[in-house]
Amino acid sequence: MIIISPSFLSADFGRLYEETESMAQCGADWFHLDVMDGRFVPNISFGVPVIKALRKHSDKTFDVHLMIDEPIRYIDDFRHAGADIITVHTEACSDVQKTIDKIKSCGCVPSLSVKPGTPVEDTFKYLDQVGMVLIMTVEPGFGGQSFMEDMMPKVKLLREEINRRGLEVNVQVDGGISAETIASAAGAGANAFVAGSAIFGAENRGEYISGLRRAAEAAFRG
Ligand code: DX5
Ligand code: ZN
Repeated sequence: MIIISPSFLSADFGRLYEETESMAQCGADWFHLDVMDGRFVPNISFGVPVIKALRKHSDKTFDVHLMIDEPIRYIDDFRHAGADIITVHTEACSDVQKTIDKIKSCGCVPSLSVKPGTPVEDTFKYLDQVGMVLIMTVEPGFGGQSFMEDMMPKVKLLREEINRRGLEVNVQVDGGISAETIASAAGAGANAFVAGSAIFGAENRGEYISGLRRAAEAAFRG
């Protein structure tokens, strides 16, 4: 299934409620919420109180991407704020297994992410325990960067491993996804797509999301 998850990092933070309404109307499947701590990545975004406030206005799946050190410390808080899927970085966890267990015990779907320099194989031993693996297609920290085409072999390898083992795991890509780049990621085997600047900056967001979906469906190789 193709999933389009707009990244609210590119939303107008002064009008977040209206932005959730806009994205729901425009056909977003999930809401991608990027949490940054200024330590794991060199930027600070928003955290628990903002997600909690948005939850009051939306029943969409909240796809929460934690770019924070030792995320295990905050899993309960994000769960209570309304997270559905919680993505943590393997590089940020001193104990990946414990972090997955914690996310599961809260009732959220665990997901693992790797930065561009981290081999995707680092996620393989957890594949049967997660709902998603996120392959970063930019260095995490900022929106509006260029898509790294050279991450596509990692996407392919991951999809092949999931298929070989007969698992149902979403393969997500995040960073530089647009109408120009989505087909390449879908062709490599990604089925879940985060896009921030491209969607929020589009003249017609609804048409843009439909266009992304059509392009991904046409190119997807699962
Ligand atoms: C980057 C974030 C992304 C970001 C993507 O660290 O994880 O979700 O918002 O932004 P675009 O789509 O503009 O590259
Ligand atoms: Zn993200």
